Amino acid sequence: MGQLGRILLVASGKGGAGKSTFSVNCGTELSRRGRKVLLIDGDAGLRSLDLMLAVSDKALFDIGDIFASRCETEKAIIQTNRPNLFLLPAPQSNCEYLADSEAVGRLCSELARTFDYIIIDSPAGVGDYVTAPAPVADCVIVVANTEPVSIRSAERLAQIMRMKGAKNLRLVLNRVDAKLIRKNNLPDLDAAIDGTTVQLIGIVPEDKRVTAATATGEPLTKGRAATAFKNIAARLEGEYVPLMKL
Ligand SMILES: Nc1ncnc2c1ncn2[C@@H]1O[C@H](COP(=O)(O)OP(=O)(O)OP(=O)(O)O)[C@@H](O)[C@H]1O
Ligand SMILES: [Mg+2]
Repeated sequence: MGQLGRILLVASGKGGAGKSTFSVNCGTELSRRGRKVLLIDGDAGLRSLDLMLAVSDKALFDIGDIFASRCETEKAIIQTNRPNLFLLPAPQSNCEYLADSEAVGRLCSELARTFDYIIIDSPAGVGDYVTAPAPVADCVIVVANTEPVSIRSAERLAQIMRMKGAKNLRLVLNRVDAKLIRKNNLPDLDAAIDGTTVQLIGIVPEDKRVTAATATGEPLTKGRAATAFKNIAARLEGEYVPLMKL
């Protein structure tokens, strides 16, 4: 199995599927493996990664300042409290460059010379702000939940990403609760995965520790979701790790 590449674009179509959670936790796991990882917060206006990593006070510049030549690229990059994990914060308001494939592509290619992984956390939706990095991304991670609405938006997003030149797509099914699926008669996991048309790279169970970790900025270390993120990081690096039992 080969490595899936260095520039990962995380998207979901529908909001709240777990893009930022995935970006932070998968980034952390890759950094624990000794990789130098840069998280790019592409969610202008709604910025969340600086809060989730408890580094808001360090965020003096952002990606918009780089595009507008208000600061050097290195000046806007924050070293987080986690070794090997860095953050490029999102602007506080809309930034047109983030919807510009060429501008985003140029910056990502420049950054890929310094970092082993670049993980771009995109806003909800399927517009230009989400798809701009598609041509430069080695892999688009489509995050979905098991509800039919989420599955449909993942399928639509995948279609658009392919049209915009995305090379590889992989699915992360997040907040999976096997009991709830049975109780509410939701489509089973295989049907949900097929519905997205995207190859699965991991299933992340519903886990209360995720919300707690997000709220405090502490890394997720224990529990089933932590294991799931660890497994996905290993798979991204080309290792074979069997899916966990739900
Ligand atoms: N596996 C999980 N188990 C429990 N809660 C989770 C899990 N994944 C995400 N959450 C919770 O779901 C909520 C939404 O997650 P997150 O902010 O990562 O989604 P998002 O896709 O980035 O949202 P947005 O579209 O607004 O950017 C958060 O409260 C988060 O803590
Ligand atoms: Mg988010």
